[in-house]
Amino acid sequence: MTATEGKHVMELQGTRALVTGAGHGIGRGIALGLAAAGADVVVHYGKSADAAARTVAEIEELGRKAIAVGADVTSTAEVNRLLDETIGFLGGLDVLVCNAGHLIGRVKVEEMTDEHFQQVVDVNLGATFRTTRAAIPHLAQSANPRIVTMSSLAAHNGGGPGSVVYAAAKAGVRGFTKGLAKELGPRGITVNSVAPGYIAETAFHQTFSTTEAQANMVAGTPIGRAGQVEDVANAVRFLALPSSGYLTGITIDIDGGTWPR
Ligand SMILES: NC(=O)c1ccc[n+]([C@@H]2O[C@H](COP(=O)([O-])OP(=O)(O)OC[C@H]3O[C@@H](n4cnc5c(N)ncnc54)[C@H](O)[C@@H]3O)[C@@H](O)[C@H]2O)c1
Repeated sequence: MTATEGKHVMELQGTRALVTGAGHGIGRGIALGLAAAGADVVVHYGKSADAAARTVAEIEELGRKAIAVGADVTSTAEVNRLLDETIGFLGGLDVLVCNAGHLIGRVKVEEMTDEHFQQVVDVNLGATFRTTRAAIPHLAQSANPRIVTMSSLAAHNGGGPGSVVYAAAKAGVRGFTKGLAKELGPRGITVNSVAPGYIAETAFHQTFSTTEAQANMVAGTPIGRAGQVEDVANAVRFLALPSSGYLTGITIDIDGGTWPR
């Protein structure tokens, strides 16, 4: 490791982070990226306790503190408990990453029930709202408070087949991010978003996209490859840095140049 790399690695030393949906996929990558830069991390998970335990073990191998906490992000009571347990473990909070989210299923609007609509909005936009709401009082006590939300390329281009409401919820996350940045700016809390395009090797696309659809997404990506979890993790780590304190209200598109074009 070079001296420059060493400095980079320690840039989040002492930082206390909570990453939602961090048992696997993009959230796991974000949690590991923050830990590699020196942060201690609460690894939130929905249902996959085993996966979260593995992420915790990987973080501990990096020499950082970590704990897994399960909570349904569509429940205010569970999200509030998640924040209580986070503060209990870390003693405070500097970085909140609202990564948890879900397509739930590819359904055309004319066939979608009210209940399905509510679930999609709630697990993406609602979860972002209630998690940030619970975290703000704690972040307000941090020297370098950061919120990073998870939007999507779908927010720009309407998403793939059967993901209209998901696209709308992710567009909502983008608007929420901009508005909250204005609301919290005077308190020094930055609020930014990342909008990944096609990130391969996630349960998301293994569940919801055919092999042909995945090949088409790569073909439509100017940079000529699928995105990797690390591409998203690197952007989130950058937004979390103490030196990123003048960046707020922005969304970083991590899509290999797919949008706009
Ligand atoms: N994979 C992609 O190409 C892609 C592109 C753009 C945006 N995203 C977004 O990135 C985020 C991570 O997705 P991923 O691709 O890693 O997929 P994933 O399915 O592996 O991760 C989703 C995470 O959200 C959590 N989650 C879902 N519903 C929950 C609930 N009710 N309570 C608690 N946790 C819940 C899951 O436990 C899981 O850890 C999501 O918000 C997704 O919408 C993914």
